[in-house]
Amino acid sequence: MAHDQPLFQKVGNKIYFDGQDLTLLVSEKVKTPVYLFSERELHRNIDRLQNAFRKNYPNVSIAYSMKNNSLPEIVSIIAQRLESFEINSLKELQILEMLAKKNGSKFHPITTTLYKPPEFIAKMISSEFFSEPLFAIDSFQDFRIVKKVAEQFKKRVNVLVRVNPGLETSSRDAVFASAGLNSKCGLPIGTIASLMEMNKTSLTNTILTEPPVEQTKETAEYIIQEISKSNWLNLQGLHFHTGSQITDLDYFNNVYEIAALFYKWVKNEFATELTILDLGGGYPVQYSPADKVPSLDAIANCLSTHLKKHAIAPEVILESGRYITASAGILLTTVKLIKQLLTGQRLAVLDFSVYSDLLDTLTAKWFYQPILVNNLPQETQTNPGICYELVGCTNDVLDRLPSYLDTSSSSFSENINGHCFPRELKEGDLIAIKNAGAYTTCFNSEYSGKPISAKFILKK
Ligand SMILES: Cc1ncc(COP(=O)(O)O)c(C=O)c1O
Repeated sequence: MAHDQPLFQKVGNKIYFDGQDLTLLVSEKVKTPVYLFSERELHRNIDRLQNAFRKNYPNVSIAYSMKNNSLPEIVSIIAQRLESFEINSLKELQILEMLAKKNGSKFHPITTTLYKPPEFIAKMISSEFFSEPLFAIDSFQDFRIVKKVAEQFKKRVNVLVRVNPGLETSSRDAVFASAGLNSKCGLPIGTIASLMEMNKTSLTNTILTEPPVEQTKETAEYIIQEISKSNWLNLQGLHFHTGSQITDLDYFNNVYEIAALFYKWVKNEFATELTILDLGGGYPVQYSPADKVPSLDAIANCLSTHLKKHAIAPEVILESGRYITASAGILLTTVKLIKQLLTGQRLAVLDFSVYSDLLDTLTAKWFYQPILVNNLPQETQTNPGICYELVGCTNDVLDRLPSYLDTSSSSFSENINGHCFPRELKEGDLIAIKNAGAYTTCFNSEYSGKPISAKFILKK
């Protein structure tokens, strides 16, 4: 099959995913509920990300952020392409070690979490399967812990300082933004206001919250000074993860401006050998047709504009998770029962549960898009379609899949009619939920006794 074949295709009265007839797959190979992953799409997403950024700024590398999907089979596919991984636990570290052993390779781990247990730090430093581990320092106490372990091992370790630029964003992105001053991660820039004034920097549609006290132990400047005095820590760069699923281009624009400005200032001020600007994750996915998402090209263009403006040329790291895995996975589920309420509302009870399978529906008010994949009528789009509330198989009232309101106003509003399909649903119908590859399998639980959904990878 050609590499650029569309991910979803209607052939006859069925939908094909990655060239596979889903009805045939369910009758022959898998039982629902099941996550299906496309290896090809994982590769394509890595290509899309790399190409968009490198076209605008060549010195970019990707570190896969493992928390969003750490299924060993998925990480193993990604490890064919990438050498760097953002990891935050011993468990993730063990998965990488296992792959390194199998492939006879070494990986570069980056850890960014706000609490790094000493045994985790020790393993990062000493594992024969890792080279050049990087620690993003998140607070004064974190600095002390990493320094202490480095000293115990008598090894000088490379660190980044995790900076919180103090930017508040629009309500939708605020769900996952971690750049406001009261967010739990990162160190604020104590002198941000004067730095911006000196550089005549203005922000677009975003509010900057200044830290109240200029110099405390919890500012990026203070920690940078401490690191520069230490024999055990080597400051290699700055880290700016500012949220996941960022859909506001202005936000990227402002974060990149502050990141470039501060990077330049630190390099000049401390004359350090800074080389790395790690910009974290956040590259967005279009979950529903109503979602407005900036293109990677537009985001990458913002980045190169700010780097040029400040005349800096760091090695940029993108810690992407969601963008790489989301579209590569679907959740395939079966209609088990149809029920009509006295209000007239039709319910279709499916064999999945949002608690276990699509937790972001609850935590982030995500609107996932379901599509019927079998026995489709000739015309797939009847207007307005036959609408159902899709509910999960547990008794919980919140176990339902909200549907977006297809207006240009906001993807945050819910359509009270539910999800509309081109024909009436019946028991046994198969429904594929799109973009289910990121932040899904990692939350699987046996809530209310529903067994954990199976996983199946469609190989290249
Ligand atoms: C430090 C850090 N880097 C990268 C990511 C990955 O973000 P995303 O999955 O949106 O690319 C996260 C997730 O929140 C994160 O906390």
